[in-house]
Amino acid sequence: MKNPLLYLLSLFTTLFLYQCNRAPEPPIPEPEPTPTPYVIEIPQGFPDMIIPDNNPMTEEGIALGRKLFYDPILSADNTQSCGSCHAQEHGFTDNLKAFSVGIDGIEGTRNSMPIFNAGWSASFFWDGREPTLEAQALKPVTNPIEMHNTWPAAVASLQAHPEYPDLFKAAFETDTITKDLAAKAIAQFERTIISANSLYDQVGLDGLSPAAKRGFDIFYTERGDCFHCHGTKLFTDNDFHNNGLEVLSPDIGYGEITGLDSDFFKFKTPSLRNIEFTAPYMHDGRFQTLEEVINHYSEGLVFSQTIDPLMKNVGQGGVQLTADEKQDLIAFLKALSDTSFTNNPNYSQP
Ligand code: HEC
Ligand code: HEC
Repeated sequence: MKNPLLYLLSLFTTLFLYQCNRAPEPPIPEPEPTPTPYVIEIPQGFPDMIIPDNNPMTEEGIALGRKLFYDPILSADNTQSCGSCHAQEHGFTDNLKAFSVGIDGIEGTRNSMPIFNAGWSASFFWDGREPTLEAQALKPVTNPIEMHNTWPAAVASLQAHPEYPDLFKAAFETDTITKDLAAKAIAQFERTIISANSLYDQVGLDGLSPAAKRGFDIFYTERGDCFHCHGTKLFTDNDFHNNGLEVLSPDIGYGEITGLDSDFFKFKTPSLRNIEFTAPYMHDGRFQTLEEVINHYSEGLVFSQTIDPLMKNVGQGGVQLTADEKQDLIAFLKALSDTSFTNNPNYSQP
């Protein structure tokens, strides 16, 4: 090459082309996003919540659990979700039904239970057969008279879904969906469902109507003697008792689980918060109204071997309240209704 200028030009061109052809630098990998820890706010006066060490709450876990709770994908024929039998406006019970009906049209034998403040309970179902919300959440999916699915089939549907693999990844940092992760997410969501803002919480005893104040006295004294089992801020001791119901079925409740004769006909004490919204009442939904429940404690107690010692007036059928006292007690119970909970947008179908 005679012309030095031409020589230089060709050198630059070569260098330039070389630069352009070089393989691009590998991109610096983005760090995997980690789930955002969620700090649950414990209402004043409530005990510490039971949160298993292996299932810390996260924003992503709760959002996933909420979606799963309302998604019929967990049932065998895609028709029933947890929310089908646990409706928010009824304190997460089943739409005023005594017994729930599963996907095959078969009716169960127990009343659907409220789900709120469940994070403070250490045994689930009327007979307490499951120790955690995680263990509980596995059961309805395979129950033949509920969602009647298998977990392998449910997990396959989730894994094949356009959104769930990413949602599980965001919540649990894995691409592999398992039934245990699904149950963990549902349990995280359930722990966020808190009810602590009833009229009584807001205004205290002094702010209640005269009738509700008189009802408070009946509730918290030997007159009605309700507080022993339905006490504390939770309005339940989360324990098992025989409250003197007439035995109408072979359902022996807690006795089935412990195998002890002394536990026959004991059932889990439900919270009395939001009781106005959760009819019908008792494990078998035998009472339609609060009036019927109060009549039971007042004059309808029936003796059986394991009746709770607190039901000490069973000889006369109960605590024998007057018609006015019954209305006062109901007025107090209605002061435990919490519409900020039944209307809370964080608990509804996403
Ligand atoms: C077909 C209706 C039905 C469906 C669907 C259903 N449940 Fe239930 N649920 C019930 C009934 C009935 C009980 C009480 C059963 C018993 O005690 O044996 C119950 C009890 C519970 C309890 C116990 C509450 C306590 O305080 O002990 C929890 C929690 C619960 N269900 C959550 C769920 C979740 C989560 C799902 C979805 C995975 C679900 N349920 C699906 C009807 C249903
Ligand atoms: C010895 C403990 C005990 C005492 C005392 C007691 N209860 Fe109960 N209560 C229970 C249990 C246990 C159940 C559930 C029983 C069942 O379904 O078999 C229950 C159920 C109820 C229910 C229905 C809840 C639901 O969700 O179905 C209401 C309402 C109620 N009690 C109100 C009262 C009132 C009002 C008093 C006082 C007059 C009272 N209880 C005293 C243990 C008790």
